[in-house]
Amino acid sequence: MAFILTEEQKLIQALAREFAEKEVEPIAIKVDLDGIYPDETMKKLAQIDLTAIPYPCEYGGGGADYVSYALVIEEISKVCASTGVVLACHTLAQSPILQFGTPEQKAKFLPMLTSYNMLGGFALTEAGAGTDAGAVATTAVLDGDHYVINGTKSWITNGDRAGIVVLMARTGTGEGTKGISAFIVEKSVSPFTVGKHEDKMGVRGSHTTELIFKNCRVPKENLLGKIGEGFKVAMASLDGGRIGIAAQALGIAQACLDESIRYSKERKQFGRPLASNQAIQWMIADMAKDVMASRMLVYNAASLKDNGMPFSMEAAVAKLFCSETAMKHSIKAIQIHGGYGYVRGSKVERLLRDAKITEIYEGTSEVQRMVISANLLR
Ligand code: CAA
Repeated sequence: MAFILTEEQKLIQALAREFAEKEVEPIAIKVDLDGIYPDETMKKLAQIDLTAIPYPCEYGGGGADYVSYALVIEEISKVCASTGVVLACHTLAQSPILQFGTPEQKAKFLPMLTSYNMLGGFALTEAGAGTDAGAVATTAVLDGDHYVINGTKSWITNGDRAGIVVLMARTGTGEGTKGISAFIVEKSVSPFTVGKHEDKMGVRGSHTTELIFKNCRVPKENLLGKIGEGFKVAMASLDGGRIGIAAQALGIAQACLDESIRYSKERKQFGRPLASNQAIQWMIADMAKDVMASRMLVYNAASLKDNGMPFSMEAAVAKLFCSETAMKHSIKAIQIHGGYGYVRGSKVERLLRDAKITEIYEGTSEVQRMVISANLLR
């Protein structure tokens, strides 16, 4: 089955590719090496309606489909995976508001995020609740017209910059996944503080921090979805989020292939280009095979979501395959580049560091296998 992009999808892809090459690639090395949050890039993305691609125009979104969203994340991540994940997490934070928000919540909070007047964050993870997301210990206790939040969230992408976070906290006494509820926390109304800033190996331009909630009072109308259903809110949001990370990994893998082709044609040893060696040709053929398969898996999962069909397992398959592809072939890309690929500032060195995180965040590869097998064996 061929996956043929529509004319609109091709236009969005071309727009994102041109933007990535002109605006993102020239600063990508600096963003990575100096850990610079790409604020100006996000502002420019907002100007061309790419900060809320798959959300309805009535809330200021791009009004496009999820395949288009995946195309944009792929193009941006091809040149700068840091910017890719900043955009992906900003998009992830909007998803539960659209899926589970009341009309009032959508009208109030979505335009702030779609316009990038505020950056979004998704606050699920804690020190003791990573893969075991149901172990959330942060509490939310009703006190009059407010919920009072206490606890510390960890590893929050966009943490230090986020003006709005969707937060999961325990409201009931139920064990594990039971008794967790979701909240929209607006920092200017319900202040919280930023804790430890992680000094990461890759995606260094995206800032990853703790968020500390100490008697943080959130208006009770900011409860998102039903009381006690916060785990499901989180999981349903992550289903879509995982397509975004799969697209990020696809972009990284495509960049590994592109760099390997370019370098192996340019670089001469023994009086001929590296590309004339069968060992190199086979590495490139294997990369191309996995990149093509990755692309089909991403577009398939996004297309199922666009068509209102179940896609949780397909999103997990796409994320698992694409992230393992990015990891496997970023190592091969360095092998092709030899010593020139092993130094700071080389693109393939950055691609390797960025590839690794795609096997970890929004559910490790082991979590994706749990989701896939649970779907098949139930
Ligand atoms: N949609 C809706 N509901 C879902 C769901 C989904 N995709 N998946 C599970 N549920 C429901 C189940 O139906 C079940 O409901 P009932 O209790 O009514 O039967 C409930 O949720 C509990 O489900 P499980 O028993 O499957 O839960 P579990 O405790 O075994 O956990 C897990 C399963 C897949 C391991 C889950 O904990 C998980 O996904 N962990 C990884 C967490 C994660 O991805 N974190 C990412 C953080 S955000 C991030 O990384 C962003 C970033 O920085 C880039």
